[in-house]
Amino acid sequence: WNTLDDVALAGKTVLTRVDINVPMEGDQVTDTTRIDKIVPTVEDIIARGGKVVLLAHFDRPKGKVVPEMSLGRLKGALEAALKRKVVFGADCVGASAKAAIAAAAQGDVVLLENTRFHAGEEKNDPALAAELAALGDVFVNDAFSAAHRAHASTEGVAKLLPRAAGRLMEAELKALEAALGAPVRPVVAVVGGAKVSTKLDLLGNLVSKVDHLVIGGGMANTFLVAQGIEVGKSLAERDMAGTAREILGKATAAGCTIHLPVDVVVAREFKAGAANETVAADACPADAMILDAGPKTVAALEKVFAGAKTLIWNGPLGAFEIAPFDAATTAAARSVAALTRAGKLVSVAGGGDTVSALNHAGAAGDFTFISTAGGAFLEWMEGKELPGVAALQV
Ligand code: 3PG
Repeated sequence: WNTLDDVALAGKTVLTRVDINVPMEGDQVTDTTRIDKIVPTVEDIIARGGKVVLLAHFDRPKGKVVPEMSLGRLKGALEAALKRKVVFGADCVGASAKAAIAAAAQGDVVLLENTRFHAGEEKNDPALAAELAALGDVFVNDAFSAAHRAHASTEGVAKLLPRAAGRLMEAELKALEAALGAPVRPVVAVVGGAKVSTKLDLLGNLVSKVDHLVIGGGMANTFLVAQGIEVGKSLAERDMAGTAREILGKATAAGCTIHLPVDVVVAREFKAGAANETVAADACPADAMILDAGPKTVAALEKVFAGAKTLIWNGPLGAFEIAPFDAATTAAARSVAALTRAGKLVSVAGGGDTVSALNHAGAAGDFTFISTAGGAFLEWMEGKELPGVAALQV
């Protein structure tokens, strides 16, 4: 794929697909990360003489015009981040889009209305893609976090115009390539979260790619069950025990070492500050549930991290949203942050919960790269081709 360095932008109208699907409370954007991250691409295009026309979705209006999901609500936040005038077009195609583009001076930024207000967007309707393409001369995709969707504004339109990856897309792809494409070994993957069933493809792909796989969170309980260990009232998918055993077998065959908790923090209720105790992983009382990994597990993980050169992380190790069950995730995240700061480890993390957990630990800033993506990061880690990236191929 091309980058902004490879395409002629001077005097061109540049359709720029971004992901500004940001969390909001009322009219306030509560986390501007995704908006802040598109600034380099916008500035680069303008510096090269292009007129920036932003295409984006917001939420899931399912092909209907839903006023609360209008991108017009983000005009102020975009102007603040870009320090430029933003001209809003009340539709992403047709007369009002054309009028907004014509009204914008070079150096202004055009923001077109939510692409998902059109049913053709999610259907990847060629007619909508053609209408979008008619608005510009070049297509730049900077929306890695929406690249797992084969939609008209991510995939369809890309095939109709000269195309390039924006700076954020470029950075995301390079970071993931460094972590899983051709990484410096040993490579550790940390995978946490509640359920094995939602991360089966991920675990299956990782065992053949990484040297160490750390399994944490609720899904570790399923692996304990698979080894005949009783986990009391813990969240566990007992019907997935056979699948978990298959993954363990596949890992052994591939030379990947799986790390499960050796000690766990258990409580009788799932609430902040609940009375708790730390026990061996095979000693969860029948009336208790596992809510975090214990200190011996963290110490063992720290050794694994210290011997690694590359680390990729998706999913928390415990119920990090309620203290004190955030302890293992926080300690492990800080250990990765320290090794990264010392230049000993390349660390890449992604996924909504993961980024919150790393922020909570105060560790995110030290990671080599934090992806803006949730679903797309996961699908990339699963080894799937992302349609929005594939369509950039030249
Ligand atoms: C995201 O928030 O992960 C992306 O914007 C994709 O959103 P979607 O899951 O609604 O396609």
